[in-house]
Amino acid sequence: MSAELLRKLRKTIHEGSLAVCAIPTCPEISLNLLTPNYPRGKLTDEEMLAIIDRPAYWAFCWASGQVTARFLLDNPSICRNKTVLDFGSGSGVLSVAAALTGADFVIACDDDSNARTAILENARLNQVKKIKIIDDLRNLTLKPDVLVASDVLYDRENFGILEKLDKYCNLALIADSRVRDPSVFDKFTLLLQERSKTVPDLDESEEFSLVSLYERKFN
Ligand SMILES: C[S@@+](CC[C@H](N)C(=O)[O-])C[C@H]1O[C@@H](n2cnc3c(N)ncnc32)[C@H](O)[C@@H]1O
Repeated sequence: MSAELLRKLRKTIHEGSLAVCAIPTCPEISLNLLTPNYPRGKLTDEEMLAIIDRPAYWAFCWASGQVTARFLLDNPSICRNKTVLDFGSGSGVLSVAAALTGADFVIACDDDSNARTAILENARLNQVKKIKIIDDLRNLTLKPDVLVASDVLYDRENFGILEKLDKYCNLALIADSRVRDPSVFDKFTLLLQERSKTVPDLDESEEFSLVSLYERKFN
């Protein structure tokens, strides 16, 4: 477990702890994640503000991330010898999966500086070396072959990216369990739907456990 990450976590979840955890659906991948005994009681105002201000999304492996990582590991030709962009990397679970399946190069993009530290730590943990980190899509210096993104559409501002995916890739894989308007994915092909849970479990409503993985190809 990384002492630096624990220090960052505790700025948000004061009594939280981290542990190296093998992902249930992807035991090939281990991540530094929040331990399941995190405090679930009533939060103080200060804690509430810290969670809003600095959400530690990187300390979870989200349901959509798990399903997509398993899909990439089971279909290694998707990333092999490709340049892969992992948009909204969080813990870096998809970056690690892409690197493990032989991507030439992975670009992990996250606008949270703590997530960027987590991605580096988790890359090291899984002994993958080909991950470059950026904080904003505007800092991309090349057009990747493949874009992967899981659980990033909770932020409606990210819907805009769906309209210009061809600028970022030739193949996009987007996984989500929260969007309720099916027309958002009109131009996509549904690859699979699977039940999964965020690790550690956030006790979310069952409706958020059904992950849909969509594909869109260009050229
Ligand atoms: C819910 S987490 C999902 C993490 C990971 N993909 C997974 O499935 O476990 C969303 C992550 O996307 C990042 N994010 C959201 N919008 C972003 C944006 N516009 N640019 C860069 N990162 C973004 C957040 O900081 C967060 O780390």
